[in-house]
Amino acid sequence: MTAYSKAKEAADYLSQKSEPPVMGAVLGSGLGAFADTLEDAVRINYADIPNFPNVAVTGHAGQLVLGRLPGGGPRIAVLAGRVHIYEGHALDDVVHALRSLALWGVKGLLLTNAAGGINANFSAGDLMLITDHLNLTGKNPLIGKNDENLGVRFPDMSTAYDPELCDIVRGAAADLKQTLREGVYAGLLGPSYETPAEIRMLRVLGADAVGMSTVCETIAARHAGLKVVGISCITNLAAGISKTALNHAEVKETADRSRDAFVKLVELSLNRICAKLEAEK
Ligand code: HPA
Repeated sequence: MTAYSKAKEAADYLSQKSEPPVMGAVLGSGLGAFADTLEDAVRINYADIPNFPNVAVTGHAGQLVLGRLPGGGPRIAVLAGRVHIYEGHALDDVVHALRSLALWGVKGLLLTNAAGGINANFSAGDLMLITDHLNLTGKNPLIGKNDENLGVRFPDMSTAYDPELCDIVRGAAADLKQTLREGVYAGLLGPSYETPAEIRMLRVLGADAVGMSTVCETIAARHAGLKVVGISCITNLAAGISKTALNHAEVKETADRSRDAFVKLVELSLNRICAKLEAEK
């Protein structure tokens, strides 16, 4: 089966469940609480959706949650739980869920993640709008024969993170009186955290934050014609900047402490982004 036919099968399954919402969102490590705020929620286990991957890492649930933003807001589709390349998954599996959303009819995708802060002005707990990325995974989900059913051979990445959607997130943060950092997300393979030398290198390369997800998803989402917007939760200062050893428990704890700010920012941003994309349909 091709990646396209696998995604189409999942999209057909989702079409039987409901009309597609305009926005999808992927929730990163420790950021799953947002899915619990949705109203009239229908939760579909990944295991029940054709070709969806098995989700293993702790803190990642593995459900597609369909529901309304609080207060009778627009419907959205939340991917609570993602798979990473470092788990040994094929690239096609890493991006299958968002390709399925695109074929179902979703127009935009919010990608969220936990990331280490490289920019000296950042603190643990900050939220960062992703304005651009460095794909340092050495991988690309589009390698191989291109399937025109999915997208073009050479997708443009000059506005990978949609400037208008970025402006909406900036506006939402300002109206909520929340500090919002912004910067370049460097995506590495992991799963080992970086060495201090690697963090110094990444800073020279222009990275403000570092993590182990998102970049391949953004590439596949742009290929599939989705508008992308990204928010990182800076869960720790990166190796060598942090005085202490890094661990996943700290990442989850910090994400948990930022939960309220994250949920508010995501909710208001998604409300406004949905209104914009709905008007464009
Ligand atoms: N490095 C890579 N990935 C991460 C980090 C980090 O410091 N924190 C959360 N995800």
